[in-house]
Amino acid sequence: MDEVEFDKFADEYRAMHAANIRLSGEDPEYFAEYKVIDIAAELRRENIVARRALDFGAGVGYSVPFFARHFPATRVTCLDVSRKSLDVGAARLGDAAEFTHFDGRTIPFPDGTFDVALASCVFHHIPHDEHVALLAEIRRVLNPGGRLFVFEHNPLNPLTRYAVNTCEFDEHAKLVLAPTMRRRARDAGFVAADVRYRIFFPHLLRRLRPLEARLTWLPLGAQYYVAARKAS
Ligand SMILES: C[S@@+](CC[C@H](N)C(=O)[O-])C[C@H]1O[C@@H](n2cnc3c(N)ncnc32)[C@H](O)[C@@H]1O
Repeated sequence: MDEVEFDKFADEYRAMHAANIRLSGEDPEYFAEYKVIDIAAELRRENIVARRALDFGAGVGYSVPFFARHFPATRVTCLDVSRKSLDVGAARLGDAAEFTHFDGRTIPFPDGTFDVALASCVFHHIPHDEHVALLAEIRRVLNPGGRLFVFEHNPLNPLTRYAVNTCEFDEHAKLVLAPTMRRRARDAGFVAADVRYRIFFPHLLRRLRPLEARLTWLPLGAQYYVAARKAS
């Protein structure tokens, strides 16, 4: 495949991202880790042990150190259409994960390979009319009972919109409302699809963050995730 959009950001991705989110007072690692912590909490609640995890659209592999911390027994596969991003990730993270390129359509793994799949801030970079087919493809490579977690920017949050509108690598981004992403997960065959809103308080107000667990219903968080399941 020819160069894809994120190839040109691969080397500078972290620096660009850090500059873009500085209003939040947090660094990219904060945003990467909270997602893995949330997934760990969701799986723990249901006594699910993940042997294999798919990070769909993993880019340079932000999630990998946090999978190592919160899922030490889980084998992680980072999948992306950007070879350059995967190369940067592999050079930095070595064999902490497996880095796999794909054509943006067919995930090169057999049915039922993974127990959990994460897509972090990926779908707003993919044309909306491809979402359901790609979600169905993720569903194919999950085990029956496997869990999907799609994290996205919340277009209803004004600071999120500002950050996206001023971010070079979001130039072509098309944000997705949470109920729309939940409907797409259902249309792709997932069940038990739920939305949880996240990230209400910047670093300055971090003492209030314990309240966030009670605010996941409120559509004002900077991000959200759709959690869903492949029926057993
Ligand atoms: C904003 S980056 C997010 C990277 C990573 N998930 C993170 O949280 O840092 C978006 C990523 O989506 C990838 N991407 C774009 N189109 C894709 C597709 N069709 N399938 C999978 N990944 C895609 C890009 O190459 C890029 O690495």
